[in-house]
This record gives sequence, structure tokens and C-alpha cells, in this order.
Amino acid sequence: MPAETILEVKNISKSFKDGHSTIEVLKDITFSIQKGEFVAILGPSGSGKSTLLSIIGALLTPSQGHVNIENDTITNYNSKQLTKVRAQRIGFIFQSANLIPYLTVQDQLLLIQNMAKGKRRSSDKKSLELLENLGLSHHRNSYPRSLSGGEKQRVAIARALMNDANLILADEPTASLDSEKGRNVVEMIACEVRNRQKAAIMVTHDHRMIDLCDRVFYMQDGTLVENSK
Ligand SMILES: Nc1ncnc2c1ncn2[C@@H]1O[C@H](COP(=O)(O)OP(=O)(O)OP(=O)(O)O)[C@@H](O)[C@H]1O
Ligand SMILES: [Mg+2]
Repeated sequence: MPAETILEVKNISKSFKDGHSTIEVLKDITFSIQKGEFVAILGPSGSGKSTLLSIIGALLTPSQGHVNIENDTITNYNSKQLTKVRAQRIGFIFQSANLIPYLTVQDQLLLIQNMAKGKRRSSDKKSLELLENLGLSHHRNSYPRSLSGGEKQRVAIARALMNDANLILADEPTASLDSEKGRNVVEMIACEVRNRQKAAIMVTHDHRMIDLCDRVFYMQDGTLVENSK
């Protein structure tokens, strides 16, 4: 795989057992993403977008096929190795911010860094920098309950960037936001990808976000089709 490739998805299939029958959600999906690329995945509800993202993010095992992240085939990893991949090499942003209620804003970020075995002092500095960039530094000692939906989602983005992973996965990051705040959040992801030469995949229902992405895929009947923008 070329040096610039961050993610390679090869012949991924996924089936779920549903009583006596089996449903095939993903059928032989193959694609790769290079450094500096921001990719959107669109498609109907239930078409398998979150399933694909979960497989790429090492949260779910495929029925067939392989996922390579920066030249490592993570599909063969044991659960300890997978935990390490998730902590160090992937930044996740989910539909709802998934913040931990009893941690302050800054501690949400430091928790990730502890999991990735970072140094405490540089982590403090980095978390403050990120909070500043995302317009949240005045909220660093606040708890999630006192933040708005948009602020929570920005904390989730800061958290996803904290481990400096080269691959960012975002599953409908704007779903709980109004269109202006949503666009803001997507611009922040695009900026991180371009400026720091990362790779990102964003699942979205919002066609208005496509102009911020480099490539667009549609999930159709379990296969992924790339559309020209
Ligand atoms: N653990 C599971 N067991 C059985 N079926 C599942 C499981 N997870 C997902 N599915 C099925 O797989 C299909 C795809 O689900 P998935 O969540 O990936 O869709 P999606 O494209 O993300 O939809 P949405 O846009 O609504 O989020 C659905 O039919 C769902 O019911
Ligand atoms: Mg989904």
C-alpha cells in the first residue's frame, strides 16, 4: 500500500443473524483513503453506514475482509491490540457527544490522553490548546450538564483530536446541531484533515456538508459507490 495511504478497506462483508435468517448488511466493500482526504458517506437509514464505520474503527469484526490502518492489518489483532489501536490511532466522534457526566471538559480530554499513555504536562498544554481552538477554554472546568448541544459536540471533537490519531471517524457528528453549528463542526474536521494531513470519514445525512469533503460515497444495497462531486 502506498506510503500516503492511511486506510485500506479490502473486501469487507458483514452479516447479522436475525432469528433463523441472516441479513447481509455489507457486501464486498473495497476502498482506500490517502493522507489529507476528507471523505463523506451518505445513504439511507439502515443501509450499513454505522456498521462500516464500526468495523473500520475496530469496534466490530467483519464477517469477511480486512482493514489496514497505516499498514497494519488490524483485523487480525487480538482484543488487547485493538484497544491500543482505538486509543492511539483513531479519533471517534459520535452522533451524540457521549461525554462522561462526572468529568469536567478538560478532564474529558485528559482521560483520552491517559489511555494513550501520554505525558501529563504536555497533555495539559495540548488539551488547553485544543479547547482554545474550538472556543471552549472558558468552559474547561465546566461539567457536560452545563453545556449546550453544540458545545458538547465541540468537546467531543477536541477529545477525538487529543490522541493526534491520523484517522478520524465521525458518525453523523452534526445530527444534534442546527445547520450553522453543524457546518462549523464539519469545517473544524476539514481544517484538521488539511492542515495536519490526516484522513477522515464522516457519515452524514446532510447534503449541504458535501462541499467541505474531498470525496463522496453512497451506501446502496450493501455496496459503496463513489460519486463524482
Ligand atoms: N448488532 C446487530 N444485530 C443485528 N442487526 C444489526 C446489528 N447492527 C446493525 N444491524 C442491522 O444492520 C443494518 C444496518 O445498520 P446500520 O446501523 O449500520 O445502518 P445506518 O446506515 O448507520 O443507519 P442510520 O442512518 O439509521 O444510522 C440495519 O438493518 C440494522 O438493523
Ligand atoms: Mg448509523
